Amino acid sequence: MTPRPAIVFGLAAVLLVAGCDDMTRQKKQNPYASRATAPGDVPAGVVQYGETSAPVPPVTMALLERGRTEYHVFCAPCHAETGDGHGMIVQRGFPAPPRLASDGPQRIYDVITDGRGVMYGFAQRIAPDDRWAVVAYVHALRISQHMMLSDLTPEQQATR
Ligand code: HEC
Repeated sequence: MTPRPAIVFGLAAVLLVAGCDDMTRQKKQNPYASRATAPGDVPAGVVQYGETSAPVPPVTMALLERGRTEYHVFCAPCHAETGDGHGMIVQRGFPAPPRLASDGPQRIYDVITDGRGVMYGFAQRIAPDDRWAVVAYVHALRISQHMMLSDLTPEQQATR
């Protein structure tokens, strides 16, 4: 004898309902449950929102190299690798920034943090330490563009 359709459907419905689980009460990982991961504990290396300053780090070769990397990633698209303000985004129509010329370190730091005019701020993208690295690199970039051969030591001149 073949089973009657009503019984088949009835059985299927019972099985389907039995398969339902109370998903809101099932065991799961709650990311906000423990203090270790609750908002407020910022993992190392993450830029904390609202943090605006950091002590000025000593200028070392490592700091300059870090600054060069960050500058090339975040600034060169507009300010160009030379700082003359003709980066690729500007060549595609974005308003040209002035040549990075005579600003003091604190002002450059503040512009990186808060932005200026059409330039958006980088407070959430570049950690305070790295902002100082960029400031140091911008300064070195500027000095490097006004060096005379005679500014170098005879040994440095010999290796050019
Ligand atoms: C999307 C393009 C863009 C990016 C990216 C950008 N800038 Fe700018 N920046 C500008 C523009 C445009 C201005 C001029 C803003 C104004 O005065 O209205 C400016 C202005 C500045 C000034 C002030 C110049 C002055 O004398 O007034 C500094 C300093 C500066 N930028 C540094 C940086 C640094 C450092 C970075 C990277 C962390 C950066 N900018 C990333 C477009 C950009």
